[in-house]
This record gives sequence, C-alpha cells and structure tokens, in this order.
Amino acid sequence: MAARMSSHCRAADAFNTTSFRIHQDAPSTEDTEMNESALNDDPDADPDADPDADPDADPDAEPDVQDSDYSDSDDDANASSHVLHDMERLQNCLPEFRSKYRLIKRIGEGTFSTVYKAEDLQYDRYDNSWDLDRDADRWAPPPIKTSDGDGPPPPPPPPPPPARRRRPKYVAVKKIYVTSSPSRIHNELELLHVLRGCQSVCPLITAFRWTDQVVAVLPYFRHADFRDYFRNLTVPQMAAYFRSLFTALASVHKHKILHRDIKPTNFLYDPVACRGVLVDFGLAEREGYDGKPCVCHDDPAARMAKLRPLLSSTAKGGYPREDTRPSRRANRAGTRGFRAPEVLFKCTEQTPKIDVWSAGVILLTILSRRFPFFNSVDDVEAMIEIATIFGQRRMHSTALLHGCMFETNIPTVGRSGFSFEAIIQWSRDQPKAKLPDEEKVAVDFLSRCMELDPARRISAEEALHHDFLKIGLDDPGSPGGAAGCPNDDDDEMDILKV
Ligand SMILES: Nc1ncnc2c1ncn2[C@@H]1O[C@H](COP(=O)(O)OP(=O)(O)OP(=O)(O)O)[C@@H](O)[C@H]1O
Ligand SMILES: [Mg+2]
Repeated sequence: MAARMSSHCRAADAFNTTSFRIHQDAPSTEDTEMNESALNDDPDADPDADPDADPDADPDAEPDVQDSDYSDSDDDANASSHVLHDMERLQNCLPEFRSKYRLIKRIGEGTFSTVYKAEDLQYDRYDNSWDLDRDADRWAPPPIKTSDGDGPPPPPPPPPPPARRRRPKYVAVKKIYVTSSPSRIHNELELLHVLRGCQSVCPLITAFRWTDQVVAVLPYFRHADFRDYFRNLTVPQMAAYFRSLFTALASVHKHKILHRDIKPTNFLYDPVACRGVLVDFGLAEREGYDGKPCVCHDDPAARMAKLRPLLSSTAKGGYPREDTRPSRRANRAGTRGFRAPEVLFKCTEQTPKIDVWSAGVILLTILSRRFPFFNSVDDVEAMIEIATIFGQRRMHSTALLHGCMFETNIPTVGRSGFSFEAIIQWSRDQPKAKLPDEEKVAVDFLSRCMELDPARRISAEEALHHDFLKIGLDDPGSPGGAAGCPNDDDDEMDILKV
C-alpha cells in the first residue's frame, strides 16, 4: 500500500488548498503493479551504471551547471557503491517512484535527510504552476521582417526548426530519515505548504509516504558551495546575496514563521545568476508556539521590578548551594554558531529576529573571510564568543533582558568589547587597513542585524530598505543590477523569481 499526496493534482494539492495532508493511497492499483514490473527493466537499476549518465539525454541540452561550473566535492562520494545502493533502495521502496522520478545522484546529506537530484519523468502530466520558468522552454520564432513595398519581395520564411524534445526537468528528492519524529516531518511539510508562492523560498511540489519513509519533492535549485565563493565576493555581490536572503526572510516572517536554522547550507545561492532560495524548514515554527511569556517583552520598569530578587540574590556572585529555581526550558533548536543571544539565554518568547541574527553571522563570515566564524562546542562557549565581541557589560544587560545573569572572569572577555570594524580588520590580518566606504555600509548593516536586543534588531522587512541592500541596484553592470546577471539559458529548474 502506497501513501502519497493525491498524484493527479499534486501541484493543485500543494498550492490551492489551505490545510496540508499526506493522503493514504487506496490498496495496490493496476498502475502500481505495472510500475513495479517496470522497475526491473530500468537501465538505471544497474548498480555499475554511471549515476550521472542520462541515456535519454538531449544532445543539445546545456551541461548541468552544478556539475560543470562549480566544484562538486560530493562527486567521488556519489560514485561510491553505498550511495548507489541507497538510491536503489529508495527507488524500490516507494511504489511508482521509478515511473515518476529518475534518481541521478546524491546532492546533500544533512542531519535529518539525504537529498538526491532526480529527473521529473511526469512533468508534463501535472499542473506545474510552481515552475516560474516553465514558458522559457518554448521555442519562439524570430520576428518576421516586412518589406516597405519597394525592392524585391522578401525571401520565403525558413522552414521551422525540427521539433526539440523538452529539456529534462529536475527535482530535489528529500528522503527524510525514518528516525525523524512524525510531528517534525508534518511540521516541515505543512509550513512549506503555508509558504507556497513566497519569493525566494523553495516550494514543495509534493510528498510521499511509504510506511515510515517520507519523501519530499522540491524543485531542484542550482547552487554553489558557499565555501567556494564567500571569500571572493565584492560588496555589490554581497548585497545581491543578502537581497535574496532577506527577501526570503521577509516573506517567511510575514507569515509569522521562524525558520530557526539560517546558515549557508540552508540558503542555496547561485552566484552566477545572483539568486538564492531558502530551504530546510525542518526546525521552523510558528511565532508564539511556546506561548510562555519572557520578561524581554515587558517594559523596562516592569522588568526591573520582576528582576530585583534575582539581582539581590546573586549580588555576591556564585551559585545558590540548593538551587530551588525551576529549570528553564525554551526552544534552542538551530545550528551552533548561528544561534541568537536570546536563544542562548533560553528566551521563551523568541521572535523572527532570531533569523536576522543568523543572517548577520553569515555576513560577518563573509566580511571577515572566516568560516565558521563562531566555533563553540556548546551554548556556554557560544555566549563567551559573543561576549568577546560585545564585552561583558552589554552581555550582562542582554542576559538580564531575558531574566538571566551573565558573569565571567575569563580574561579575554573585556568590559567593553570591540567594534565590528576592528574584528573584521583583525580577522583579515589587516588591523591597520581602513575599510572602504561601501564596506562600511555593509558593517552598519551587520551591526543592525547583530544587535543583542531583539527588539532593537532590524527586521527583515526593514533590512530590505537599508542602503547596503541597495548597492548595485542602479548599476546595470553589477550583480543583481539590470544587466548584471547572465541570462543562463540552461536546462535546470531556475524557477524562482528572486
Ligand atoms: N531544492 C534543492 N535543490 C538543490 N539542492 C538541494 C535542495 N534542497 C536541498 N538541497 C541540498 O541538500 C542539502 C540538505 O538539504 P536540507 O538542508 O533540506 O536537509 P537537512 O537534512 O535538513 O540538512 P541539515 O541538517 O544539514 O540542515 C542542502 O544543503 C543542499 O545542498
Ligand atoms: Mg539543511
């Protein structure tokens, strides 16, 4: 028995209804059985076959840019037999899978899933309203020149070009590990469904379930490895990257959803086309989900009144011998090094501003040319890293904002901390070099994103109006400007308007 979203209207299901459901199929149909037998005839079933070789490939099709233009460090791993074995197992475990998708190679392996590039074999059978580039495939004849009456009659029009097969359409097949909790999987799929149509957010095409195995199908988005390009970005290129990322964040936050895991591997960026999409909503949640108040939302006077007992009991420093205070619980989901201070201080009323902080960490990484910038093993170390930049005084106030105390006697954590400009100069081993004016605008943007108090931190919507994100917009020669992005006419699903 197969379980999948009702297949004959997969795009309609995903985009026209308001509640998200994974439907259970009726017991085995003729269709299923026919496809099961077709499994054995598939040339890709040969485990020795080149996973990238496409026997039906259009000879005129452009090369796969991810494979040719960008270094793909997974290539060797992809050739390994265990990857082929896993691909084979996936194709066999989901009934009808082989008739719908042809797995090509593994493109990602995360904490919660393995992601494969696949060809969408039944693209033409469905409503593909998610594919904003779907009309780009159609051949348009050049305009016919007309004669002005004098001179010889125009030559007859050339014969139409031979009909070309449509270029293959690719998808990303995300096989979610069976150890993931059902509520987590449902949450990810539901939020993706809610966010359908959002600019710069990778849409969900469909999802399947077979017993405990869930597979999500997303448009394949061509991108480069962040580590390969982040050191060489010019300021206009940085602005283009963050315009795209903040466009995504603004639309996600408008829906009152926190992504919770903003980091380079979850923002698939194509530096040639200057566009990116946000993926991986596995940790995302709705704002106010925890529902417990935090003093950071009180006005300062009310907060101080509540905190007076805490301040007097810890005035001498140290810890109570018998700590009777209830332990504090808050969502701390996210990735080391990208967690906002309020997440580290277990704020129970976290807001979308946590994503803005994480985006700021990406910018700090790019400007300082150090990845990872923060390298803590746990939350306490992460606080020390942040305190080293901002200083003890500001870190202490930030902790109080959430009803916590922050004290340290680590000598490298000074009282006042350092400016971002100084941190960036030191990271580049150029402590004396002055930053150019454009970079100063980027640093100002950074300081607005990495503001310790979430209430004072810039929102994603406000960020889109910051001068940094306007850099290059009026310059037709710069990335993201009118003529800056090469119009790469390839066979990938560059489907998203960003
Ligand atoms: N739509 C897509 N197009 C192209 N590649 C994709 C797509 N979705 C995911 N990937 C690739 O797969 C990787 C893992 O995807 P994703 O982040 O959704 O999974 P995850 O298991 O939650 O990962 P992690 O735990 O590392 O964050 C991405 O970093 C990216 O390289
Ligand atoms: Mg991820």
